[in-house]
Amino acid sequence: MKIGIFDSGLGGLIIAKSLIQAMPQYPFVYFGDTKHVPYGSRSYETIYEFSRNCIDYLFRTQDCRLVIIACNTASIAALRKLQQEYLPINFPERRILGIIVPTLEYVAQRGLRNIGLLATEGTIRSGVYGEELAKIDPSIKVYSVAAPLLVPLVENDGDKFAPAIIHEYLEKFSGTGIDSIILGCTHYPHYKKLIKEQACEVLGCDIEVISQDEILQESLSDYLHRHPEIEQDITKNESPIFITTDITGAYLAQANRMFGRKIEILSATVQNMGS
Ligand code: DGL
Repeated sequence: MKIGIFDSGLGGLIIAKSLIQAMPQYPFVYFGDTKHVPYGSRSYETIYEFSRNCIDYLFRTQDCRLVIIACNTASIAALRKLQQEYLPINFPERRILGIIVPTLEYVAQRGLRNIGLLATEGTIRSGVYGEELAKIDPSIKVYSVAAPLLVPLVENDGDKFAPAIIHEYLEKFSGTGIDSIILGCTHYPHYKKLIKEQACEVLGCDIEVISQDEILQESLSDYLHRHPEIEQDITKNESPIFITTDITGAYLAQANRMFGRKIEILSATVQNMGS
């Protein structure tokens, strides 16, 4: 059996790359819903439907033992309902994990107090990061800035437009006194270096940039260690597979750039299970 990594589009390839490099023994299946990206400004009902259809595909056709929702927006809009309603009826033995809890655990360990959150509108609307961090420590403050334009830039090779847009987003944190910025969207690590440079200019050079591609390996390896019954079902030493719901030459070129080498992408036709 395999480990699925689900994202709304190509952004999660950065997370997939770091997982594949850190844990090459496991057969990862990357799945990007390029037909429906961006998820970030959609209703939670729609995000749930899209996510459930894709994850169902991963369980049914790719024999995934476990699916990691790398997408923050889908983790917020769909994870709980998938775990509570979809899995018990359809695949009671399988598991779905999200990206929010590992990020919160990481942030809590770092002892940060004034946190900037760059994320999609859907993630910010939920208030989840602020609420959950306040449960860990009520003195933690979260200042959120929605950065929706970065997603289409990443999906469409729009890097040359990124500096001006990132600058404008970061300026919105001015005067907040933040000590760190969470890149709360799978797409943003693509601009990690640029965000670090510009945060240094706009907000000060001691701002810590928290990037989810650096967080997930440890939490996944810890999870598999704590769940040997899952770990032993996972086949070892098979190559990764990459699947998207829509594929064009431009998408393929961008996926290769983001993954850092040429990858073969399969196209999936996902069954709509209805609303
Ligand atoms: N991948 C999504 C996330 O991590 C955002 C991109 C989108 O809007 O689809 O939040």
